[in-house]
Formats: sequence, structure tokens, C-alpha cells
Amino acid sequence: MDLPVPSSRSREHRVHVITHGCQMNEYDTHTVSSELVAGGHRIVDTPADADLIILNTCAVRGKPVEKVVTMLGEFRKQRLAGRDLTVGMMGCLAQLEEGQEIARKFGVDILVGPGAITDILDAIEAVDRTHEPFWSLEFKDDLHTHLTPAPDTLTGFLTIMRGCNHNCTYCIVPQTRGPEVSRSLESILHEARAMQQNGVQEIYLLGQNVNSYGLGRSDLPSFAELLRRVADTGIPRVKFTTSHPMNFTSDVIDAVAEHENICNYIHLPVQSGSDRVLRRMAREYRRERYLEIVAEIKAKVPDVVLSTDIIVGFPGETEEDFGATLSLYEEVHYDTAYMFMYSARPGTPSYKHFDDLPRDVKTERLGRLIERQKVWSHRKNQRWVGRELRVLIREAATDSQYVVGHSDQNHTVLVPREQVGEMGLYPVTVETATPHTLYGTVAGAVPESIPLLMAS
Ligand code: SAH
Ligand code: SF4
Ligand code: F3S
Repeated sequence: MDLPVPSSRSREHRVHVITHGCQMNEYDTHTVSSELVAGGHRIVDTPADADLIILNTCAVRGKPVEKVVTMLGEFRKQRLAGRDLTVGMMGCLAQLEEGQEIARKFGVDILVGPGAITDILDAIEAVDRTHEPFWSLEFKDDLHTHLTPAPDTLTGFLTIMRGCNHNCTYCIVPQTRGPEVSRSLESILHEARAMQQNGVQEIYLLGQNVNSYGLGRSDLPSFAELLRRVADTGIPRVKFTTSHPMNFTSDVIDAVAEHENICNYIHLPVQSGSDRVLRRMAREYRRERYLEIVAEIKAKVPDVVLSTDIIVGFPGETEEDFGATLSLYEEVHYDTAYMFMYSARPGTPSYKHFDDLPRDVKTERLGRLIERQKVWSHRKNQRWVGRELRVLIREAATDSQYVVGHSDQNHTVLVPREQVGEMGLYPVTVETATPHTLYGTVAGAVPESIPLLMAS
């Protein structure tokens, strides 16, 4: 009888995973970490304790790419000095020619793209056995049915779809994440229920464009229906990101308005307030349509908090175009915004066809937008002073007198540490507001410990 050949399964590694980029990368890091633990490896908290470091990378702008290069340079130096260290790269940069060149240059051992993360154990085993680099860059089908164990945290990220079918001219994501694929309703609900049983209080449904969930698939519900099904699990909070204005339908707004536990917080990236720029970006809506959606949201969802993404200094953006972005911001009264200076990414249409604006023009406009955003955010935040919000308090704040969390509407809220025993959901009365933060007291607790200087 042939006995099974003893497995040359890799030795147990002490692994540290460093995550850059968006929440989808955080979800992937959790998936990979779960696989590693299931495969007998140990996750360690610091890079110094690891013999395998995996960088989960982002490629959306030039800066996160520079960060990866700096880190890989450091690891290479340590290896040359004799450190026993295996280095892996996953995430969006790994999928690009640009990332692969970097991987070759710095002697990265493992390269797995965003569609191949379930290959991580095979990759480690192969590298241990052959001492040759292992690359996997396919978009694998098994990833969509793969069930990631629930995290041990109060907030759980849950990817409902991968990829993107849009082709915004500035954006590298369709190349790094491939075409849209929606996960099955069963897989999503399974993960949601497991999170609930594990004590997760808030589920974040994730996708590059969650509103196109299930489009063109008769076996899947619409995004609005999916939202309702996840809310029906009874999880205290459901949030979702990112919404694309093109597919942002009324039924999604209705679901938000009707379900107590679907948060009154909507992130709706606009990118620019100028139709001329939107056209050159190949965004499929115009200013007027965007404002119609916002009006419907405001009419149906009282006290809604709105945020957006804006790119400043897109090629060819004139002072007048930029003025249109400022005026749109003023018209919507966003509560907050993620504002980016245009970064020309190799491989995107705008990199190929348009000339970048001078850096000082971009910097100056970004500065002006940030100044206005601070004023508007402060104004919006002040409306909450004296009111009660429900806050999911998650961790110690940088200032150790406080603990920090997020409201149902996604405000960052700080409360004095001594008022909170365990982390979790608390009713909080807002005492003061800054442009980026609300300070409050747990309802019923003594309010003296809010320092007045925070009001500035
Ligand atoms: N799918 C999401 C966005 C994902 S990328 C959406 O369409 O809303 C997150 C944000 O990064 C984008 O909304 C955009 O504002 C910004 N971004 C993408 N590519 C960029 C680039 N080349 N330069 C600057 N910002 C960029
Ligand atoms: Fe990028 Fe546009 Fe897709 Fe968002 S919708 S990921 S900005 S291509
Ligand atoms: Fe970055 Fe990829 Fe997310 S490029 S923003 S990590 S989808």
C-alpha cells in the first residue's frame, strides 16, 4: 500500500500583515489572516517579531506606492544584514506591472493579487520548499464563495462585491480589482449572521460601487433588497460604502429611510462640480442629476449626514471649473469630504492623454477647498451640540483622557474615558463640536470633565 508522502507543509511562520488603502483591503487582510491562522501560522503584532511580513498595498495614488517602496527598501537592507525574513506583497499594487517591477527589484518572495488571496497558504508552502518567488495574479472564482470567519471586533467589514465596471479616466482600480462580481446572498448573510453572533455591532457592506450589486443577475437581489436583508438580521448598525451616483436609485434611499438600523449616513463621491471635468473624467452623471439625488436623500432621510470624495486639479481643470466644485459643495452642505489632489497614475487614460497641471496650482486649490470644508464641517457639526447621538465607542483616543467612537451618522465622537466601562454602544450628549470631532458625555454621566478649550 502506498503511504501518503509526508507533507512538506511549510514551517510555522510568525506573520505580520501591514495594510494600506481602503476598507476592502482591511477585509482582505482579515481574510488572509484567518487563512494563515487556519494554516498553523501565528499572527504577530509588530514587524520586528515576524519572520514573514506581508504588505497589503494600495495603488490609487502615487503616495501609497512610494510608501511600499520605502518599506521594501528597509526590508531588503535588513535581509542583506542577515535577518531571516520572507516578504510578501498583496493588494492592488501587486496586480499592476508597476508593482511587479517593484517586487522584482526588491526581491519580494510572494506576490498575490486581490483576486488570488486564497492562494496565500500555497504561496508560503511553495516559497519555503523551492526558495523561488511565487506569483499568483488570477481573479479566482472561489474568492466569491469563500467564507471569511467573523472578526473579533465591534465593527465588521463585509465585502459584497469585488471589482469595478466603470472606467473613470483617472482611476487604476478597474485594472487592479478586475470586473464587477457580486457575491451570493447566502455567503453575505452567512458572514453577517456569524458577525452578529461574534458580538459585532456594526457591519460595513463594502464594494467599489455597492449600488450595482446584483445588476444583470436574476439570481441576486438588488442592493436595496440586500441592505434590507442584512438589516433584518437585527445587527444594531448597517453602513455601506462606496455609492456611485450613476446607480444610486430611490429604493436605496427608501431602505435607508425605513430601517432604523441602516445608518443615516451616505457617502456619495462627486469628484467635481463641473460638468466639463465630469465629462473628461468619464463620470456618467452631471451636476444637475447629482443634485437631484441629494435633494431626494435630504427629503426622505431627516438629519442625514452626507460625505463625498473630490479630486482637485484634474488635468485641464480651470479656475471656473474649480469654482463649480466649491459652489456644489456649498449647495450640498456636505458634513465632510475626502479631498485628493489629482495623481497621474501610469496605465490610466488620463495619464496617457492629458497633461498634469502644475503642482502648485493643485496644492493651492486643495488648500482652498480644505479651508472651506473646515468651515462647513464645523457649521454642520455644531448643529448636534445639545443633542443625543448613539455612539459605538471602540478604543482609547490618542489623547488618553478620552475614548473614541463613531455615531450612527459616522461622526467621530470623543467621550471622557472614565465614563465608559466596556467598549460598545452608548447614548452620548454632544457638548462641543470642532470641524472634525464631536465631544460629548455619556448620557446620564457627570459632564464636568469636558475641557472648555475643546470648543475651539
Ligand atoms: N469606487 C469608488 C472610489 C474608489 S477610489 C468611487 O467611485 O466612488 C477612492 C477615491 O480616490 C475616489 O473616489 C477618488 O476621489 C480618489 N482617486 C481615485 N483615483 C485618483 C487619482 N488618480 N488621483 C487622485 N484621487 C484619486
Ligand atoms: Fe475608480 Fe470610478 Fe470605479 Fe470608483 S467607479 S473605482 S473611481 S473607476
Ligand atoms: Fe487602494 Fe485598491 Fe482600495 S487601489 S483604495 S486598496 S481598491
